Amino acid sequence: MTKAKASKTKADDVADLTEKQAAAELKRLAAEIKAHDDAYYQQDAPAVTDAAYDALRARNTAIETRFPKLIRDDSPNRRVGAAVSSGFRKVTHAVPMLSLGNAFSDEDVTDFIDRIRRFLTLPDDAVVEVTAEPKIDGLSFSARYEEGLLTVAATRGDGAEGEDITANIKTISAMPLKLKGKAPALIEIRGEVYMTKGDFAKLNATQAAKGAKVFANPRNAAAGSLRQLDSKITASRPLKIFAYTWGALEGPLEGKSWDTKMEFLEQLKAWGFPVNDRTKVCESVPEMIAAYTKLGEDRAGLPYDIDGMVYAVNSLAWQRRLGFVSRAPRWAIAHKFSAEQAETKLERIEIQVGRTGALTPVAHLTPVNVGGVMVGRATLHNEDEIARKDIREGDTVIIQRAGDVIPQVVEVRTDKRPKGSHAFVFPDKCPVCKSQAVREPDEVVRRCTGGLTCAAQAVERIRHFVSRDAFDIEGLGEKHIEAFFSDGLVKNPAELFTLQKRDGKTKLMEREGWGEKSVDNLFLAIEHRRTVPLERFIFALGIRQVGQATARLLAHAYGTYDAWRDAMIAAKDEASDAYRDLTNIEQIGPSVATDVVAFFAEKHNRDILTALDKELTIEPFVAPALGDSPIAGKIVVFTGTLVATSRSEAKAKAQSLGAKVAGSVSKKTDLVVAGPGAGSKLKEAEALGVKVVTEEEYLALIGG
Ligand code: IVH
Repeated sequence: MTKAKASKTKADDVADLTEKQAAAELKRLAAEIKAHDDAYYQQDAPAVTDAAYDALRARNTAIETRFPKLIRDDSPNRRVGAAVSSGFRKVTHAVPMLSLGNAFSDEDVTDFIDRIRRFLTLPDDAVVEVTAEPKIDGLSFSARYEEGLLTVAATRGDGAEGEDITANIKTISAMPLKLKGKAPALIEIRGEVYMTKGDFAKLNATQAAKGAKVFANPRNAAAGSLRQLDSKITASRPLKIFAYTWGALEGPLEGKSWDTKMEFLEQLKAWGFPVNDRTKVCESVPEMIAAYTKLGEDRAGLPYDIDGMVYAVNSLAWQRRLGFVSRAPRWAIAHKFSAEQAETKLERIEIQVGRTGALTPVAHLTPVNVGGVMVGRATLHNEDEIARKDIREGDTVIIQRAGDVIPQVVEVRTDKRPKGSHAFVFPDKCPVCKSQAVREPDEVVRRCTGGLTCAAQAVERIRHFVSRDAFDIEGLGEKHIEAFFSDGLVKNPAELFTLQKRDGKTKLMEREGWGEKSVDNLFLAIEHRRTVPLERFIFALGIRQVGQATARLLAHAYGTYDAWRDAMIAAKDEASDAYRDLTNIEQIGPSVATDVVAFFAEKHNRDILTALDKELTIEPFVAPALGDSPIAGKIVVFTGTLVATSRSEAKAKAQSLGAKVAGSVSKKTDLVVAGPGAGSKLKEAEALGVKVVTEEEYLALIGG
């Protein structure tokens, strides 16, 4: 009541101001609020009560609202809490900042260690020492030290390029400005900036008292504090750091002073960095799991938020050999904790039909805050899951969010179940086209049998086909696709390219909302896409499990559309070389292979492919230009026994140098690396006149 009254008086007063008076007032308020901020943040000695301070800010805001033209560059509303990303200079990391693969189960951890053994061709019982350290839920930084002095610090950004936060990071008291003792000519130190749970609670309490922004969690508070254009604000926030790795490194210490990650952590400490003292070495999977379990038990009592455990191979020589897959190292993994949970009401269950015809149940929830994010929907996976948990509309449910994955319903509060509720009946008809929806034996998913006659599938497939990362055809929204489909104008992706020929212009112009110009624009957009890179083409087909990364792998492996198509048709026979080659592609397992092969096995899909091929120019895959490696862009085949490295290591290395590794020899093969025991492939290479080298010669060629 008093509050409403107070603001009313203020508003009235503001309403009486002339523009000139308002400008003078804003100037005075900016200076006064700044003086109070300095007293509060810098000297920790507030000069006025919080209420008086709030009144000043409220008055400033009221005047700004009435006279937006008069908002000053140094307005208090601009200075505080405005993380203006465009205001930061960009910094390119000398060595990219990568992410980590995730492990969610004990089995994933076992697989991680097994993969390392296989890659390094170690015996099954070889000890793989790893470090286990808490994964801090903060935000990562990379700080460059030249001759031991901190010169530039950046956020992770997209991994290649981050934001310059040098001035801000220098305000963190734990951050060494100068490395103690001997330092290399250049080193990028990497770690995490975080805020303790206690400091976060205190910060939020003062923010709330001031009427300023409160943060959802310590991570957001740390990020908001670090990404301030005014580093004085950062200075006032209680930020801390942990250092854990390095990026670029040059100079006398390179590779000499530490052979293991543990030794490097000791070096970090000697230089003056805080290092997490819970980090320990584990020598087996059970030890890793025990360390993870213990960390989970201690999690709530730790002063900082963590979201899992990071395991990294301790030997740096092994780390170098293991290298990277896409954007994550093979030598490290994050073992994640289960996620945060919240309770809410499940209002209704919707059955969606995906472009592959799968019926997917989705829970519509009363929106609820889960770990700082508002959640209004959750996946229910499939009908068995609904039946097993007896999830009903109207139930109170516990949902959880784990990292970036879609929120899920984990539990039903049956004690809160409303009277008269009944079990959910999963439909056996497609909610879109009313065709039968059936479940194959051994399948968990029920699928609509309508195929391309089902609007959900056809429309969804065409929508995917024209989407940005696929054919990128502008001006064709979902509504248009639906309308074209239901009128029989475009029933599949290939028909997009024949629309104009089929008198599409007249037909479209008869439709509401289409004028000559918009029709011409659409046809132009379609014409522009008649030439398409192979990887985009593959992705656009919407084959199950074939996302952009897999599409790229396939394009990389087969090079041309014809080669890919012929191989996929031949791979129907699981005993064939084609099938073996497909599953030999790194990161393509039998499950993806099955889906790709199944796609080609369907006649209606092959028909559409033929129709598309007629209309399009599908460009061969172009390997990324990777410097001047002698095998960049070349097609290499390995055969026989390799001695120095395992087959998968050799393959990964060749790929990282820009080569394409093929499973069989053809006229297009540039180089065959033949070890002892090489048989038919070697003969073929000789017959075709393809260059053949020994493993030793190959290693000399690529420089080791
Ligand atoms: S090691 C190649 N250790 O988690 C990257 N990362 O999900 C090696 N993180 O980008 C990183 N605590 O920002 C490592 N103890 C820790 C970590 C940690 C948090 C972050 C890091 C990384 C992200 C990956």
